[in-house]
Amino acid sequence: MTGRLRNNRKTEEIRSKVRETTLEVADFIYPLFIEEANNIKQEIVSMPGIFRYSLDRINEELDQVVALGIQSVILFGIPIKKDAEGTESWNDEGIIQKGIKHIKTHYPTLQVIADVCFCEYTDHGHCGVLCDHDVDNDLTLVNLRKQVLAQAKAGVDMVAPSGMMDFAVREIRDELDKNGFENIPVMGYSVKYCSSYYGPFRDAADSAPSFGDRRTYQMDPANRNEALKEAQADVDEGAEILMVKPALSYLDIIRDLKNNFDLPIAAYNVSGEYAMIKAAGNNGWIDDKKVMMETLLSIKRAGADIIITYHAKEAAKQLKMEND
Ligand code: PBG
Ligand code: ZN
Repeated sequence: MTGRLRNNRKTEEIRSKVRETTLEVADFIYPLFIEEANNIKQEIVSMPGIFRYSLDRINEELDQVVALGIQSVILFGIPIKKDAEGTESWNDEGIIQKGIKHIKTHYPTLQVIADVCFCEYTDHGHCGVLCDHDVDNDLTLVNLRKQVLAQAKAGVDMVAPSGMMDFAVREIRDELDKNGFENIPVMGYSVKYCSSYYGPFRDAADSAPSFGDRRTYQMDPANRNEALKEAQADVDEGAEILMVKPALSYLDIIRDLKNNFDLPIAAYNVSGEYAMIKAAGNNGWIDDKKVMMETLLSIKRAGADIIITYHAKEAAKQLKMEND
């Protein structure tokens, strides 16, 4: 016979003792969009509360991030110049390299993670070098080495390849180790699905593909067994952290990785997931603060140790209020 389960729900004192999952501000990574321009603070229409900043104004954002106790940011760059291979991504004076240097100089305690991909830098918006209207895996690996080395030289704390190229982690690990950057960890976007939830991000980062889609490199949303293979590949190639992206339609995958691998698991609560909560909240249809906290909790409960989220600042505020 089971006991009276409601007895553990009677008061906040007992509820807080039997609570199985809790969120902490240390769980969060906050994405930042950095535009190569001057005097820019531009709100992204489909992501209320999220802005593109130029470097001369980004301290307005970073001051808040640090004051709220957020420890980590992940950077996305919007360059002026785009070309077929995305060469700006490995320019030592490119926007991300400048951004890394700026943040590490002015906010040395902030952990700076760089997204490693080409879609923001190519004029066609695909995540690598094109060959016959598809991304060529191994040509892209050559450029990935260049990009990651430029980020490492700029002082990045962690790199996160997001292009879903086979052997990307292996190549990046090797390039870092060969150049004396063996202490920079790699967070693989190990299991990244070809998702329509990235829509608002592509507006924010000007990175929508000019033709076709990303189905030949990002994973089919129908596949679960394949996720384990992708994750195993990143483990074998030397990744320190595995990521699942998006988060909410893929909570089963987060749990699968948690149950099958010993590495920390990250989940990317993506732009479309953020946009839906904000849109419903701004219409008065849901209490968006509460839905936000419930959503983040669900990602953690599914098995994520780390959550990349546009809600990080607001969630940090909520957590502060709860603890006061
Ligand atoms: C770049 C990249 C994307 C996201 C993160 N890195 C977009 C894409 O694959 O098209 C999406 C993030 C989001 O939607 O919040 N490869
Ligand atoms: Zn990309």
